[in-house]
Amino acid sequence: MDYKKNVTSCLVSLLGEHLSEQQINELLETPKHPSYGDVAFPCFTLAKLFRKPPAAIATELAENLRHPLFDKVEAKGAYVNVFLNKSAISKQIIETIVKQQRHYGDLSLGQGKTIVLDFSSPNIAKPFSMGHLRSTVIGNAIANIAEKCGYRTVRINHLGDWGTQFGKLIAAYKHWGDENKINENPIQELFRLYVKFHEEAETNEQLEQEGRAWFKKLEDGDEEAYRLWKWFRDESLRDFNRIYELLGISFDSYNGEAFYNDKMDRVIQLLEEQGLLSESDGALVVRLDEYELPPCLIKKSDGATLYATRDLAAALYRYETYAFSRALYVVGHEQRLHFQQVFSVLKKLGFAWANAMTHVPFGLMLKDGRKMSTRKGRVILLEDVLKDAIALAKKNIAEKNPNVKNEDEVARQVGVGAVIFYDLKHERTNNIEFSLEDMLKFEGETGPYVQYTHARACSILRNAPSPVTDHIQGLTDEGSWEIVKLLAAFPNIIQNAYEYLDPSLIAKYLIDVSQAFNSYYAHTKVLTEDEQLHSRLALVYATTVVLKEGLRLLGIHAPEEM
Ligand code: ARG
Repeated sequence: MDYKKNVTSCLVSLLGEHLSEQQINELLETPKHPSYGDVAFPCFTLAKLFRKPPAAIATELAENLRHPLFDKVEAKGAYVNVFLNKSAISKQIIETIVKQQRHYGDLSLGQGKTIVLDFSSPNIAKPFSMGHLRSTVIGNAIANIAEKCGYRTVRINHLGDWGTQFGKLIAAYKHWGDENKINENPIQELFRLYVKFHEEAETNEQLEQEGRAWFKKLEDGDEEAYRLWKWFRDESLRDFNRIYELLGISFDSYNGEAFYNDKMDRVIQLLEEQGLLSESDGALVVRLDEYELPPCLIKKSDGATLYATRDLAAALYRYETYAFSRALYVVGHEQRLHFQQVFSVLKKLGFAWANAMTHVPFGLMLKDGRKMSTRKGRVILLEDVLKDAIALAKKNIAEKNPNVKNEDEVARQVGVGAVIFYDLKHERTNNIEFSLEDMLKFEGETGPYVQYTHARACSILRNAPSPVTDHIQGLTDEGSWEIVKLLAAFPNIIQNAYEYLDPSLIAKYLIDVSQAFNSYYAHTKVLTEDEQLHSRLALVYATTVVLKEGLRLLGIHAPEEM
């Protein structure tokens, strides 16, 4: 519910001939101080239009602006200040939340249309990087937000499970591999082989050739090559699944690059039929001069297909399988050109749906100001991060609340939640400096702070003399009003987060709600038995509903005790 809309619609009825609804909406301000009311409308634009002093216009408007939900309308200089009827509005909003519970904020923007989200998508036989963590949690949150907006979603993990590197890996395994070690610790051991291959290849030219030969065998369906590849893939996936389980994230499809092996010929044929392929040094490319992009490489001179070829086949397959109204690719900035090229090739093929594809990039995770990389020793393994976070959460909780029930489960929810929240609270495209300590602080802008606020509100409700009902009166004190205004904004925040594809809007909002609630709680004796008790309890309850649902959208649990 957006109480500003009441102001907008009243102004539209007065000014509709001169300003559009959208213009009016954009002009509305929130006054810096409560003594100037709740919503302010500046009259400078109208002054120019009417060639009258803005103050005169403000006075005139203030006299005519009437609505049952307005307490008072005042002209102050060039502004019309609207004081809302706090009692009526707070009653309305709290009742709505108590009634709708977790469905509060559900929107019908999507009308059941389908959005396909490609996210996480790590590479087999390589450690799960911080970049993949970012993609995983951002993609999952955007999917949750889209569902809240009424879209159906398909979550796709486009595993990096094909390409020349698998030829190299097989070659490395044949030279130095040990089956037991791989079974024990698949990713670590496969990655060691991969690194060793590159070290040895610097002095041994033969190796590259062997790697290429093995990849050729793999592409031709050689039995041994296929068996090894499949084994590497299964073992890696087992490792990745441990991480997904910790994060509480799952996918509708794990169709990775290999899945498109038999689906690329069709793409190449389509390109050929439409005369879009040209030759360049024996390779096949699609020229993209009209988009001012370098050509998109489709087939190498040795006949091998590429990452882009597989993405073209995947796009086609996804459109035919899911009839998506939108396709999102949550992938780092560095692949910007790749996606521009893929989308442009699809447009050249005449697919209108290519316009519904969006690359959703994000910033880097930095360690001491530099990119975290798997190659250069500044490696931080994601699983270690999550485990450290859980251990630290456990320690913090034991200090704060030694009697907490299910301490391991709660520590897991807090530790993992801290990592996710820290990632998501940063504006999506900004870089992030990695800091485990900052993530896990119980104060400041952290996941544990929001979770703790929620748990604290839950404990008030547990200690309440009577249950929450929806027979409530309005609340008019400043402390409740600050919370009510924020709770009322939730649906708007969700819509904005969807429009900008940026979960940080929700993370920041949850911090605001938590701060407003904690300052309310510091100044108000919620459990005093007076005639407002029911209303205060309902406000506390409404706050828990919104905090919990907001955290859920981010992919974070809200324990009731911690
Ligand atoms: N596996 C790739 C990487 O780790 C990301 C894949 C993204 N999705 C896609 N459809 N290209 O860099």
